[in-house]
Amino acid sequence: MHAVVHEALFAGARSVLDPACGDGRFLQATGLPVQVGVDIDPPTAAAGGFECADALRRDWGDTRFDIVVGNPPFLSQLSRLTTRGGSSPLGGGPYADAAAEFLALAVRLTRPGGRFGLVLPQSLLSARDAAAIRADVDSRAALRWMWWSDTPMFDAAVRVWAGVWEVGGVPGAVRRAHGSEFAPLSSMPMPRTWSALLTGADSPADDGPRLGDIATFGVDFRAQYYGLVDAVGDDVDGPPLITSGLIDPGQCHWGTRPVRFAKRTFRAPRVDLARLSPAMHRWAEGRLGPKILIANQTKVIEAVHDEAGEWLPGVPVITCRTVQPQRVLATLASREAVDYVHSQVAGSGLGAGTVRLNPRLLASIPLLG
Ligand SMILES: C[S@@+](CC[C@H](N)C(=O)[O-])C[C@H]1O[C@@H](n2cnc3c(N)ncnc32)[C@H](O)[C@@H]1O
Repeated sequence: MHAVVHEALFAGARSVLDPACGDGRFLQATGLPVQVGVDIDPPTAAAGGFECADALRRDWGDTRFDIVVGNPPFLSQLSRLTTRGGSSPLGGGPYADAAAEFLALAVRLTRPGGRFGLVLPQSLLSARDAAAIRADVDSRAALRWMWWSDTPMFDAAVRVWAGVWEVGGVPGAVRRAHGSEFAPLSSMPMPRTWSALLTGADSPADDGPRLGDIATFGVDFRAQYYGLVDAVGDDVDGPPLITSGLIDPGQCHWGTRPVRFAKRTFRAPRVDLARLSPAMHRWAEGRLGPKILIANQTKVIEAVHDEAGEWLPGVPVITCRTVQPQRVLATLASREAVDYVHSQVAGSGLGAGTVRLNPRLLASIPLLG
């Protein structure tokens, strides 16, 4: 909180707003003479003598502040849907986090030349539903400073970052800090994708060839998962089942590493094709054949080559088809590809430094050589 307030304060600032102020600690930390706090919770607002209102729906008229700061609420999908009915007055898609709405609000309520600083969930750096809000903020303000941490805070499931922007500012270097010690990281020009702020490496601007030009990527869903459950066993004949846990870069551990599938542990699971429904049979026929299998949630990109076309992917392993497998494998194994996917979706995975891959992202990786 203190770092955000410190970065947001500037000489000559007099007024500050916290649109989700809680006990008003951000406001107090600024020490400014005009402090405006709003909170939707009546007892909280009453306790601090703040206005009780929904900041996202309140009519703000022409009111603008020198500084807007805060730690807005991060709402889960369920509460988003119940509190907002899925609509977004400020430009977010139906699943945009409430924090994204507060970001859109802050950029509007800060006067030109003023600053706003918010603590936000890292998912906002790459969430598709917040893309319009990121673009809106980029068009109105310049990020001056950011901080992020890979240890979850406030709530066990949420990793956070904070940014301080100057409204109407010319984009320049973004100063960066990391972790509970606020260790300084190298400054960087504002990257094309916000998630590159975490990695420090911007994505390439080139319009050159992408993996999607020579390969197709597909992933399976619940229907395939449930369709497989009764057909998998250690003592049946049929194609080996390859789950994400078996895939290391260039290596498949089927038969040597135990497999967890559908809450059971297998030694060397195979799929008995005779036990599949007709629809699942067609699916299996489509998935057999030479291909590359890719684990979906990783730090580096883990891909293995099924040259003989004998394996069946578990869910959510990604299947790649290509007539140039060596070129695809070389690209997926490259440092450039790892940096690229991190710059696109850092913060999307479950653990620090992991990313969740998807077919569209893989197809967009710049092709090597
Ligand atoms: C994460 S707390 C942060 C409070 C304060 N900044 C702090 O650090 O203690 C978020 C606050 O936002 C308030 N809030 C949630 N939705 C709101 C809305 N739509 N308008 C105004 N306040 C809201 C909650 O009541 C809560 O007090």
